[in-house]
Amino acid sequence: MKAYITTPIYYVNAQPHLGHAYTTIVADTYSRFRRLTGARVRFQTGTDEHGDKIAEAATKEDVAPKDYADRISRLFRDTWPLLEIHPDNFIRTTDPQHIATVQAILQKVYDSGDIYFDEYSGLYCRGCERFLTEKELVDGLCPDHQTPPQEIAEQNYFFRMSRYQQRLIGHIQDNPDFITPERYRNEVLSFLSEPLEDLCISRPKSRLTWGIELPFDANFVTYVWFDALINYLTGLNYPDGPDFKTFWPVAEHVIAKDILKPHAIYWPTMLMSMGIPLYKKLHVHGYWNVDDTKMSKSIGNVVRPAQLIEEYGVDTLRYFTLREMSFGLDASFSSEAIVARKNSDLANDIGNLYSRSMAMLQKYTGGRVPAPGPISPTDSLLQKTTEQMLELYTEAMEHFQFHRALQAVWEVISCANKYIVTNEPWALAKEAESAERLHTVLYTLSECLRILTMVLGPIMPGAAAKMAFGLGLEADSVLLGNLQQSGRWGLLPPDTALRPIESLFPRMEKDQVKEISQSAKASGKIDKPPAEAGQGLITFDQLQMVDLRVAEIVAAERVKKSEKLIKLTVRVPEERTIVAGIAEFYSPEELIGLLVLVVANMKPAKLMGIPSQGMVLAAKALVEGKERLVLSTVSGMVPAGSKVA
Ligand code: MSP
Repeated sequence: MKAYITTPIYYVNAQPHLGHAYTTIVADTYSRFRRLTGARVRFQTGTDEHGDKIAEAATKEDVAPKDYADRISRLFRDTWPLLEIHPDNFIRTTDPQHIATVQAILQKVYDSGDIYFDEYSGLYCRGCERFLTEKELVDGLCPDHQTPPQEIAEQNYFFRMSRYQQRLIGHIQDNPDFITPERYRNEVLSFLSEPLEDLCISRPKSRLTWGIELPFDANFVTYVWFDALINYLTGLNYPDGPDFKTFWPVAEHVIAKDILKPHAIYWPTMLMSMGIPLYKKLHVHGYWNVDDTKMSKSIGNVVRPAQLIEEYGVDTLRYFTLREMSFGLDASFSSEAIVARKNSDLANDIGNLYSRSMAMLQKYTGGRVPAPGPISPTDSLLQKTTEQMLELYTEAMEHFQFHRALQAVWEVISCANKYIVTNEPWALAKEAESAERLHTVLYTLSECLRILTMVLGPIMPGAAAKMAFGLGLEADSVLLGNLQQSGRWGLLPPDTALRPIESLFPRMEKDQVKEISQSAKASGKIDKPPAEAGQGLITFDQLQMVDLRVAEIVAAERVKKSEKLIKLTVRVPEERTIVAGIAEFYSPEELIGLLVLVVANMKPAKLMGIPSQGMVLAAKALVEGKERLVLSTVSGMVPAGSKVA
């Protein structure tokens, strides 16, 4: 069994947010699930670095496109491990090997007669980086970007997409699983019921230079989608790499609805023209909103994964997103919703089940798994519910229905919590003659927990690894293998030594963070100068309020008309701007790459009109008789965003 799972390659004109995180969590969860069922998996993500948008973003920051792309691409790459996501390959469209392959493919398609030169005028949306049809506009605007398209007339190269329309319709009709959920398959078929236009696949260099040059005409660069989609092949070292032969036949792409058309229409027709079999499946999900509002930079409600991890923990974030969104439909993020799920599903349900069971095993059987005696109907009921869950879970996970898989898992958790109440192990422990029954009950609970640990592995790998450790199991034994076999009831060996672990999911008090600062404010702890608060001494709690971080300086420039200020772009690990009064002591060039200490939870302030979010720490020192500021740095390499304890 093999699987090749991809995410879209993300544009480097924006930093990673909840939407990118979700798709990548889904692809990671599915990859882990397939590994758990014994498949050999290749999981790929990456960044899309050519095109108008990137060129524009780089110009805004006054840096070369490649330098800009390097920076943001690294931000994406560094975000994934924070989410316990470890792709097998991270591809960049600026990789020389990708560029060479795109050119070779273009030449092949050109030679086959599927590319021609023509005059074209149309309505171009810079946000979508494509020409829109009149029909697609809503009130004259691009529905995705709410901007009017530009009327552009120019000569360009075109791909004969229309030639493959009938073949594509046939393929979609013959393969009901090619595009899922069904609503998106229907959307594509409905789009294909109208004649398909050919696809403009070039941009004149006079308008855009940041792209891959057409091998047959140096005056043009490749249209960003023609370049980007090919990443799915170049990541496998197409055409000669062994990975291509192994993994391409089992390719599954995960995307959101915004890029359905390029993936469901452009890409399969491109593959047909190249003479390559089509990918196996396209899994399309809906959009995350925040507090029921579209996430957008201008509204200022963009949610960053690094912040969420810090506030709620990575397991909670992964669980919440997978449980809350029905794959295919939109969902809304809110702090109330994630706190509610954390407290009820995680702390109360699974957290309690685990800690109660482990505490009883410690207390009544000396921290070892007991041998079970004869089985009673309540034991068989829990066993049966667990076995049925495994079937439901497997079927739901195979179909990307993560919320359904989790519902099935939570049925078992609730059944197990009831099982404890019904069987009252604490009462059994009081009577010597109930020892055998007590052992059966505790064995049944441990076995149920072992299977729960396995099925939770793909969703919450960190928590599952902790649970496995507590149960005395090797992490790999629950994260990899053959779920069908190792999920069989009764495999936990009696006498396994359990290990103590800290609480899995501590409850989160509502608005925990806010309450701390509000109560501190009410008691005057924050606002009063230290001398009044207690002879210049501060308490540990007061110190805790300051969020000190290691920040990496990734860009620096002098603030115009200021002698003292430098505008820094730092990573903590998300990017933000800090304006620092260090221009007299440092040049912008020498700052780049430094790891400095910053106060990360300062109220934003404007300095010379520039919003500053944080403060860089520096020592005030007398150097050669003059007072100067010397930046506090850290000795040794640590990841940007590390907390300073
Ligand atoms: N570069 C192209 C993709 C090329 S793939 C050959 C691109 N990049 S993107 O950065 O805009 O990423 C789009 C993808 O990010 C969506 O398809 C989805 O996976 C994810 N999301 C971005 N915003 C999202 C939400 N608000 N909600 C859910 N996912 C979203 O398009």
